Amino acid sequence: MDAGLIEFFNIVFRFIHIVAAIMWIGNSLLFTWMEINLLEDKENDESLGYMNMLHGGGIFYLQKRMIKPDEIPHRLHIFKWQSYTTWISGFILLVSVFYTRGGTLLLDPSKTDLPAYMGLVISLGSLIAGWFLYDLLWRSPVGNKAWLGLAITFGAILLYASWLETVFNGRAVYLQMGAMMGTWMSANVRFHIMVNQDKMMAALRDGKPHDLSAGKQAKIRSWHNHYITFPVIFLMLSAHFPSTYGSERNISIAAVVIIGLIIIKHMMNSYRTIPRWKEIIYATFIAGTTVVYGLMTVPPMFGDPVEVVQLSPEAEAGKQVFSSLGCQACHLPQTGTIAPSLHGLIGSEREFVDGSKLIADEAYVRDSIMNSTAKVVKGFAPAMPPYATVIQEEQLDQLVAYVKSLGN
Ligand code: HEC
Repeated sequence: MDAGLIEFFNIVFRFIHIVAAIMWIGNSLLFTWMEINLLEDKENDESLGYMNMLHGGGIFYLQKRMIKPDEIPHRLHIFKWQSYTTWISGFILLVSVFYTRGGTLLLDPSKTDLPAYMGLVISLGSLIAGWFLYDLLWRSPVGNKAWLGLAITFGAILLYASWLETVFNGRAVYLQMGAMMGTWMSANVRFHIMVNQDKMMAALRDGKPHDLSAGKQAKIRSWHNHYITFPVIFLMLSAHFPSTYGSERNISIAAVVIIGLIIIKHMMNSYRTIPRWKEIIYATFIAGTTVVYGLMTVPPMFGDPVEVVQLSPEAEAGKQVFSSLGCQACHLPQTGTIAPSLHGLIGSEREFVDGSKLIADEAYVRDSIMNSTAKVVKGFAPAMPPYATVIQEEQLDQLVAYVKSLGN
């Protein structure tokens, strides 16, 4: 697909995705918060709790209640499109950003020889299989033991991510984990929460009494979604954090972040039952960020010391830019199959698909970055994204210095 069009899709659907996600998560957080903070209403058998909230110059009186078949409210608000819109726009983004390039942004050719289309098969296949496995687990007797279910789910996610790490690049590993959990959340809404609520409402319409058990099932999946929310936000934003996904210990970092965020969310929910909830939040935050910082920066204790090449400050800055703009996803491997290796580029002869040739110099490197489709290297597709509007002049100088510093 045309690179400009892909970029356009990317902008439109990213915006829709973020706005829908904010609306969904906002609802989810608020509803869970209300659920936790309902006050008991002893005088009223039908009441499941009530609360008063000050907002917009008035007091909202909220009551959660059981109803009789003839009391079904005329205007009943249902919350589902926030979730569906988030998933649909997210899926379109996955396709337009990651799948249109034939899986080239998913696989890491320095780790695997799999053909590019296998990236798509793995990504799409595990989104579908992941949902069925997760659903099966929580439908099984394990589903009644929240902590056991959580431990198994968490362990399975880490195993999956560790395996994915052997074929995907770091950025794609994080995104795929986020997409998988995001899919669970939306599928929970569609196949559990809505289904059970519809069942409950249908029974009421048939004149049967309000059955709380169907709603209870829905509530369990709502709680799952609630706890998955923070980790998914981190994973979805991770494209901005190359030092996390790009680290050799990226799976350990993700593990610490996920556990830390779940503990913090749980403490936020438990402020009425766990007296030291605040201290636990602070301690988790400090311990978690310290461990993550350590994982990101402390060199490995075992194994061969990594050869450190001294770069000029400008080239060093260029290396950062190279990493943060995702250049390495395509260009890192020295035997490029997706994109040409940039090692030893300067001074070498380049041949292009139109048959022309030139000796690569600085000006050529600049031109290749800013106007990548003008000259397409022979043997490669014009798959490089447009960067002309993204890269600042100073960054371009740094990138060129970095490319120059790459030996053979
Ligand atoms: C989606 C994969 C992809 C990404 C991301 C990418 N490139 Fe490329 N790049 C390519 C491909 C494919 C080619 C060869 C085709 C062409 O010349 O357009 C290429 C060509 C180049 C060339 C010319 C190489 C030669 O052998 O003559 C340079 C220099 C370059 N890219 C630098 C960069 C920089 C710097 C970044 C990050 C800002 C980047 N690329 C990001 C895919 C990518």
